[in-house]
Parts: sequence; C-alpha cells; structure tokens
Amino acid sequence: MCGIIGYVGPRNATAVILNGLRRLEYRGYDSAGIAILGDNSIRVTRAVGKLSNLESRLRQAEDGPPPSVGIGHTRWATHGGVTEHNAHPHLNDAGTIAVIQNGIIENFIELKGELQAEGIRFRSETDTEVIPHLVDLYMKAGMPFARAAFAAIARLQGSNAVVMMSAQEPDKLIAARLGNAGGIVIGLNPDETFVASDVPGILDYTRDVIFLEDGEVAIAQAGQVSVYRLDGAPVNKQRHAIAWDPVSAEKGEYRHFMQKEIFEQARAVTDTLRGRVNFETGEVALESLELGTGGAEGIPARIHTVACGTSKHAGLIGKFLIERIARVPVEVDYGSEYRYRDPIIEPGLAVLGITQSGETADTLAAMSLGKARGARVWAIVNAIGSQAERMAEGVIHMRAGPEIGVCSTKTFLTSIVDQYLLACALAQRANAQTVERSNADPFSLARDLAHLPGLIGQTLKPDPIYEALANRFHDRRHFLFLGRGINYPIALEGALKLKEISYIHAEGYPAGEMKHGPIALIDETMPVVCVAVRDGVYEKMISQIEQVKARGGIVIAIATEGDDFIRQKADYVINVPAAPELLTPVLTAIPMQRLAYEMATRLGCDVDQPRNLAKSVTVE
Ligand code: F6R
Repeated sequence: MCGIIGYVGPRNATAVILNGLRRLEYRGYDSAGIAILGDNSIRVTRAVGKLSNLESRLRQAEDGPPPSVGIGHTRWATHGGVTEHNAHPHLNDAGTIAVIQNGIIENFIELKGELQAEGIRFRSETDTEVIPHLVDLYMKAGMPFARAAFAAIARLQGSNAVVMMSAQEPDKLIAARLGNAGGIVIGLNPDETFVASDVPGILDYTRDVIFLEDGEVAIAQAGQVSVYRLDGAPVNKQRHAIAWDPVSAEKGEYRHFMQKEIFEQARAVTDTLRGRVNFETGEVALESLELGTGGAEGIPARIHTVACGTSKHAGLIGKFLIERIARVPVEVDYGSEYRYRDPIIEPGLAVLGITQSGETADTLAAMSLGKARGARVWAIVNAIGSQAERMAEGVIHMRAGPEIGVCSTKTFLTSIVDQYLLACALAQRANAQTVERSNADPFSLARDLAHLPGLIGQTLKPDPIYEALANRFHDRRHFLFLGRGINYPIALEGALKLKEISYIHAEGYPAGEMKHGPIALIDETMPVVCVAVRDGVYEKMISQIEQVKARGGIVIAIATEGDDFIRQKADYVINVPAAPELLTPVLTAIPMQRLAYEMATRLGCDVDQPRNLAKSVTVE
C-alpha cells in the first residue's frame, strides 16, 4: 500500500514528511521519495528500499534553509520494476511540477502515447509520470497551475489518489481522490496543512481533519483548504475530530472496522495486484506469486482447495476461474471434511489452502494431510508469518492489510483476485495449447484486472437502496440468496454475511436447485436476493426470478447497471457496473457485504464482534 504525505506550513517540510512516511511504513513499500521546494525549484530525492536509505540520501543533499512545502511517497510497484527511476515523485521535463499517486491509471497507455506524440520523453515505466507531463502541457497552453491540475486529473480513468506541487505556485498543494483505491485525508492547524493517504500519517500533528470523497479535489495552503468537485463546483466539507484512543483513530471516518474494510477494498485489491501483472503485455509471472520452487516447477495436474467459511466460498469461485482459464481440474472442500474423507492424493496434485488468518485449525490440518501424503502444498494467506504460510511450499499473499472486523470482507475479494492471477499465470505457462483448450486469452484476461479497482470503486458509491432495504426488511427472520455459475458462491457468501452479523437466518442456493426444495419456502414474506448480472446464465436467472415472483416472493436483484429489463421483473434492483464475466463475483460480493452491514447496524448488532464468533478459529 503506497503512502502519501504532503505539507505546507512553517515547520521543516522534510522532517514532517519523513515522520509521516515512517508512521505509514507498516503498510509496506519497496522504495520512497520526497520532493521539496527550495529557491523556487523542486528538489527530488528518491531511494530504493527502506526509508533509512532515503534519509541518508537527504542528509548528503542537505543545504539551504528548511523547506516549507513538500510531498513524499512510499511506493509499492504497480507499473514498472522497483528502481529509483520508478520511485515517486515524478516530474515534468523542466522539473517544475512534482506528482505522487496511489492507484492504477487505467488509460495510461493512451495518455502516454498522446504525450509521446507531442515529443515528451518518459524517464520511468510508471503510469504516474503521465500526470506531471499533462499538467505541464496545460500550463504551457496558458492555464494556471490549479486549472491545469484539474484538467489533467479529469483525464485520468481508474481509482487514484494524487498529490502535486508546482514551483510556479509554491504556496499550495493540490490533492485529488478519484474512486476508492486511495484515500486522501487533509489535516489542519491554524497555520499549517497536512495531506496524507492515511490518518496515522498526520496524527502526530493534528486531529482536525477532512476526508476527500470520490471526485473531489483540494487546494491546500498553509492553514486553509478549499475543496471542489472536478467540474469546479465548490464543496462544503465537514471537519472531523479524530479521537485520541488508537482504536478510534484507526477507524478514521468510519463507524465500524467492517465498514472501513468494505470501503477500502479497491485499495486492497490494488495492493494484491502490485508488481504481479505487466498491464502492457498482460503477463503474470508465476514467480511473482511467491510460489517458490513449488510454483516454478510447473503446472499441477489437479488442485484440491481446502478452506473454511468465507475462504471456502472464495475457493469455489477460484475453481471456476482456474478450470475456465487454465483448464486444471479443481476440487474444493471444507478443511473440516477433507481430512476425514481419505482424499485421493496422486502425483502432480497441489493442495491449496485459503485462509485469511493462516491459523484456522481445520484448514491447517487439511494442508498437513496433503503434505504428509506427498502433495505440493500452496497457501493463499493474509496474515504474514502465520502457520499456513510457514507450512506451505509456496504462498500467495492476499495483501489486504489487517482485517479487524471478525466478518471477512476485503480478504474475500483479495483471495478471489489471487486465484484469478494464479489461473492466468498457470494458463500462460501452459501456453498455446491451453489457450486453444480454454478458448480464453490469459494475457487479455490479466489486462482486464487493471480496471478492477475502478469498478470496485463504482460499486462502493453511496446508494440509498441499502438503507431502504434495511428499513423495509430488518424484521424478517429468513432470507434466501440465489446465484448461478460463477456467481453461485456469491449467493452462499451473501447468506453467510447476513446470518453471521445480523443473526437473520439465510440460505444460499444455486438458483437451478430452487425447484428441488427451497421453492417451498417462498411466500409473500420471503425476500429473495438474486445475483442476475448480464453473464452467460442471465436468462436462466430471469426465469428463476419469474418463478419466485409467481409464488409471491420479494425479489432483490443484483444486476448490471443499465439493465432496464430486470426492473420490470424484480421488486428492488441493486446495480453493479458492467464487467468482464470472470470478474463479476468481485463486484457482486460488495452489495452482499453492504446489505448485511446495513441490516445488522439497523438491528443494533455488534458488527465487528458478532456473538459466538472469533477471527481465528484455532480449534477443531
Ligand atoms: C466469515 C468468516 C469465517 C472465516 C473462516 C475461515 O465472515 O470470517 O467464515 O472465513 O473462519 O477463516 P480463515 O480464512 O482465517 O481461515
């Protein structure tokens, strides 16, 4: 997770920025850099590796009075390798505009081409470098810095947080948030202003903050900030006082950790992707998935996925992805069942444990059985240093960051993305013959991932439907969830989310199975949540919806934005943006989380610590 810090005010900007970056160090990074303003020119210092490398570079370069304006960044690579050239901040040719960015600029290839056609030479392989060049182009056309910055930001597609400064207007920083992949918090004191990607970066100096929303741009000067929409309309921002106790401070603008974790999913997925896909070629290197020798040796003949709860649902989606993309057969089992059913473990088998905590006893036992019988053991894990990580030969980290809410949210999305990457990497390794067999191009499928953080951001936009549904249905005792194809496990996950945090009984079913039993439950009191996005089984889902309606049931459809037809069939529609079919579960999972959260808070339940549940289930 990249860190951003900016400062304008009377203190030594370098010291404030370095301190802030240190506070964000725990989020992980591979290089760091800082731009400060001195003598009306921008001075950039960058270094690969730890912040101490940057600090020693800065000590060598120290001269002149302490700077009062600057920006700093800890990078975790998305585009381009871990090199000093690729570290942020990035500059325009004349070195008068410096920019740092978190996120993925989806249209950077087009923008870069356009700028290269103007004769601009790029010094890095990053997507970020297009921004200072664009701002420069607009300033050369006569726009003042702020207008040029707005115009450049408006050209960016995707989910990003951007901060920039200009030597020509040295009294200000411009910060923008597009989508949800990177937050921007602005801290204020009477004579100074701080900009950061995360609250802990500025807590040593102020507790008086505002948070930028999607599509907002701030012009920050010492002790004051003005916020606008991208079209220039001013926004009246509410100030928040961050509480002093560390737990509330970590929650920032959110009421609960679960809510925070739902809303930081675009960012979590961006981190999952970092350094693993070359978005220009679509290449996913098996090595980049940290599968060690286990992965490099080749492609398993089959995979047994073992997991529990939400992680098992992610495994069911992974089965679909790995079989469809890489044509490797996958069986998915509960950790608690696998070890008691004498599984057939033959040469060439890989056992893949999926576990957020890396400590779930049943999953560990299943992995250990695989290992004892000679299978290659892999793990998809969030918690660094956990037992699952230590036991496995190869590990794909979820990189979701700490998940505090007991109910899994961001680790569900990141473990699906990990399996998508694994599927593409296996297919690419298997090469042409697999492409022929699966009729799917694993390079183009991997390139699709560049759009995912932006699509997640769109799915997280404010939507009054969740509150309306919670008001209408919080007193129901039963819910049914239906899905089909790759979205069938999302029905299971939707039911699990609802029951575990709101204590409402819920069943998840493959939609085609409804007529074999659950249909008997349907009457005019039963809400039925149907995942019916425009995919290969859309027509089938419509026919299931008709069957529910024919029995008086209430249909809440999760549908593709712009699908007017489904509005005639369903009682309520929750929209998700259109997306390639294999990525749809990453999006349809989000309404399930938001619905469950809204229902549970409406009922006054403790969403972060639901009764009888633990974050790590370390007993059988
Ligand atoms: C549901 C949930 C649990 C876990 C399960 C496995 O929201 O959190 O169902 O998914 O206990 O936990 P891990 O992934 O840590 O093995």
